[in-house]
Amino acid sequence: MAQRVQGTEDLYGGYMRAWERMCRTAGELFGSYGFDRIETPAIEQVATFVHGIGESTDVVRKEMFRVFSGALMERLLESGSESGLKAKQRLALRPEGTAGVVRAAVEHNFVPQGASPVKVWYGEAMFRGERPQKGRLRQFHQVGVEWLGAEDPAADAECIIMLMEFYKRMGFDPSTLTLRINSMGDAACRPAYREMVRDFIYAHREEMCEDCLERAEINPLRSFDCKNERCREVMREAPLVTDNLCDDCREHYARVKAYLDEAGVSYVEDPTLVRGLDYYTRTVFEVEVAGSGVGAIGGGGRYDGLMELEGGKPTPGLGFAVGFERMALALEQQGASLEGERPACVYVACTPEERDAVFSATLALRQAGVRTEADYQGRSLKSQFKQADKEGASLCVVLGPDEVAAGVATLRDMSTHEQVQVPMASLVDEVRARLA
Ligand code: HAM
Repeated sequence: MAQRVQGTEDLYGGYMRAWERMCRTAGELFGSYGFDRIETPAIEQVATFVHGIGESTDVVRKEMFRVFSGALMERLLESGSESGLKAKQRLALRPEGTAGVVRAAVEHNFVPQGASPVKVWYGEAMFRGERPQKGRLRQFHQVGVEWLGAEDPAADAECIIMLMEFYKRMGFDPSTLTLRINSMGDAACRPAYREMVRDFIYAHREEMCEDCLERAEINPLRSFDCKNERCREVMREAPLVTDNLCDDCREHYARVKAYLDEAGVSYVEDPTLVRGLDYYTRTVFEVEVAGSGVGAIGGGGRYDGLMELEGGKPTPGLGFAVGFERMALALEQQGASLEGERPACVYVACTPEERDAVFSATLALRQAGVRTEADYQGRSLKSQFKQADKEGASLCVVLGPDEVAAGVATLRDMSTHEQVQVPMASLVDEVRARLA
């Protein structure tokens, strides 16, 4: 039997409706903040991710799925090296949405100098070659936003407020959510801080793992996230970024926190929160659900240098993304229904000889926008009623020989089993009124 790829999931039934609801909620909420939907291609040039996410990140070094056409793959296997490939032949499936959106913003000049900010949101599949486990997939789905052209700390606070409202609308009990925030500094103060952390790791080289020593070379801040307990213990004594911010970054961070306080959003300051993508500057944040064991259900931050890294003019930016599958797991644990309510449904039941009458009735109901189900297997009336229950129909239209001869339909309320007859000419209006 053919099987799906490990670490991927099929979205169907209630799970698909849950994903659709997540996108609908995003469209409504983010739309009210002025965000328009965008969809960028699932494949991009590798360079887009290398420039944006950072060459030294795990996402780029180990987790990107590379894409080759069959013909190109054959050539590669023959030559034994990809060194002859042009940039446009080096392709990868997107591991996240930000780099592609920023690439599109540069390519189409979304934010000409001096123009007002551009706000976009997306709901898309992402791909990372990670070891599959609970809440960690190789193809997963994110809803995210990117806000380009805003430097104001009010934008950081609004992004976070909007994110927390999103979780609430999706059904989370807000008291179970932990929002962690930090400031990572900027081009003025981060390089010196990185050096301090590197020196600290080298000063403790005996106690640190091999990976951390390698990280010290290329990306020392990643050691704050090392899985090794001994390294974590050492890193607890490491210099903290918030003690080493320049005046501008300290002021920016203070204002973000003041806005969050004013909005009544509670947060935990975590000076060791560094995130796994290199493009962040200043504000970063992550959200976890207490006791869920699924990891972060969302995260984001500011990336004021990313537009330039992707070849554009200096333009500040910020955003976040939330993971659908992790949210679904955490919501399920809280007993919340993720899929929301389905539209009310009517079922048109009939005896076999009245099949044609059902055809016209269902056509008229569907053209009027009513969710309508019917039988296509010649089942008995009794099993059609059972099927109607299964479909969640609150109303049945029954068409038998007597009804058709008299030009009427019987309407059966599926919860009370009460029945009334209505003229066929007013069937659509009657059904709509009762479903409403
Ligand atoms: P990220 O923290 O890498 O950020 O991913 C955001 C969310 O996607 C995570 O919090 C998690 O819920 C989900 N996620 C990540 N990896 C996986 C996985 N392998 N399986 C299941 N869920 C996963 C970003 O992607 C940034 N682009 C967010 C951002 C937007 N920053 C600024 N703008």
